[in-house]
Amino acid sequence: MQKIISLLKRRGFIWQSSEIYGGAAASYDYGPLGALVKNNLKNFWLKSMIKSEESVVPLDSAIFMHPKVWEASGHTENFIDPMVECKKCHRRYKQSEAEEKCPECGSELSSPRQFNLMFETHLGPVKESANIVYLRPETAQGIYVDYQLVQQAMRLKIPFGIAQVGKAFRNEITPSNFTYRTVEFEQMEMQFFVKPDEAAKWFKTWRDKRLKWYTEKLGLKKENLRLRPHKKEELAHYAKEAVDVEYKFPFSAGGGSASGGGWNEIEGVHNRGDWDLSRHQEFSGKDLTYFDEEKDEKFLPHIIETSGGVDRVLLAMLIDAYYTEEIKGEERVVLKLHPWFSPYRVAVFPLVRTDENLVEAAKKIYSALKPHFSVDYDETGTIGKRYRRHDEVGTPWCVTIDGQTLEDGTVTIRDRDTLEQERVHKNEIKEWIDERLNALSR
Ligand code: GAP
Repeated sequence: MQKIISLLKRRGFIWQSSEIYGGAAASYDYGPLGALVKNNLKNFWLKSMIKSEESVVPLDSAIFMHPKVWEASGHTENFIDPMVECKKCHRRYKQSEAEEKCPECGSELSSPRQFNLMFETHLGPVKESANIVYLRPETAQGIYVDYQLVQQAMRLKIPFGIAQVGKAFRNEITPSNFTYRTVEFEQMEMQFFVKPDEAAKWFKTWRDKRLKWYTEKLGLKKENLRLRPHKKEELAHYAKEAVDVEYKFPFSAGGGSASGGGWNEIEGVHNRGDWDLSRHQEFSGKDLTYFDEEKDEKFLPHIIETSGGVDRVLLAMLIDAYYTEEIKGEERVVLKLHPWFSPYRVAVFPLVRTDENLVEAAKKIYSALKPHFSVDYDETGTIGKRYRRHDEVGTPWCVTIDGQTLEDGTVTIRDRDTLEQERVHKNEIKEWIDERLNALSR
């Protein structure tokens, strides 16, 4: 894990927030390459949802919501962890994580206090309790309170889904394991609105679809994924039935979302029944029922939720892709990301950087590819070093311009995984890459 973290930092994927000030706890910044992969993941998830055989539409709701939303959702009352504090060093722990003595200094612990995980702030110029607002701890509530507006504006018929990607915030007591558990993170959540008597069926459908998405679409190794149904006693306050999609990380995260041995949650699929809509109906006083024209009847839809964490899934992807091998006594580190997610689809090199003609030809090819792909131009160091640099960040194809290019217009394209090189005409590079990307089409 340490090797992966240092690669991710060194190569501009992820580093701790506010590093020049010694770092901000449990917050991370995605550097240029991290931002590229993260955006590829988010876009791909949203596209797969919208393109799925079911009817799913996107939404982008606000982070700040009416404070009553969180009363209705149960978060002000239930989104709490019992916490204990060391009487000497004042470190805080989840009650479940510390017995009688402080794990750090061995001193006595206080009796447990309830600790709400929502971040609280004040809207407007006056700091008073009437102005309290919360940073949303999940994106889901924005979907529930807008569900009727979406359904009516888009004239949707049940069953249908609403999907959104966005930031969520939780004042986690024990943030841990790099980007696995942080206080600011992104979720990709889809809420599927169904007839009450079809909820159990749709829960199973989405549970199976989501596991398949991770193996067949995202390309994570099957042996590193599994479904884990929740026991009755661990169900969240809103859930009738729940299952976690777990990934086998090289660490145990601890806490409620982990079942040990490295298996930790990356996504939850929940049958939320009519908990959310009935509560919002009650707290807002608005009729949130859906009118079924065919049957001429009104009912409150039930909700099946798929809730994944962008940062956690991305971490799983990076770990899954990390690969090392020895070639001629030297270690080759490769990020075997699927080409759809790699930060760069292609890199362009002149074989010799002191040869003006090669540099000019390489820059022309780079400019021609740039409108179509995420592409890097690299002329520093030996060609071998450039290949290694791009292996490390997962670039699937490297294009090299050499003396022969100037004679017959062909370049070599080197494949990251097979290490094979092929000569292709410079005017056909885009088609060559498109063909391969389409063959891997999701
Ligand atoms: N709307 C339901 C919901 O939020 P959850 O199981 O609390 O359910 C869903 O969270 C997903 O969000 C998790 O599977 C995880 O991937 C991500 N997540 C939750 N808390 C997180 C944290 N502190 N840091 C990073 N990701 C987190």
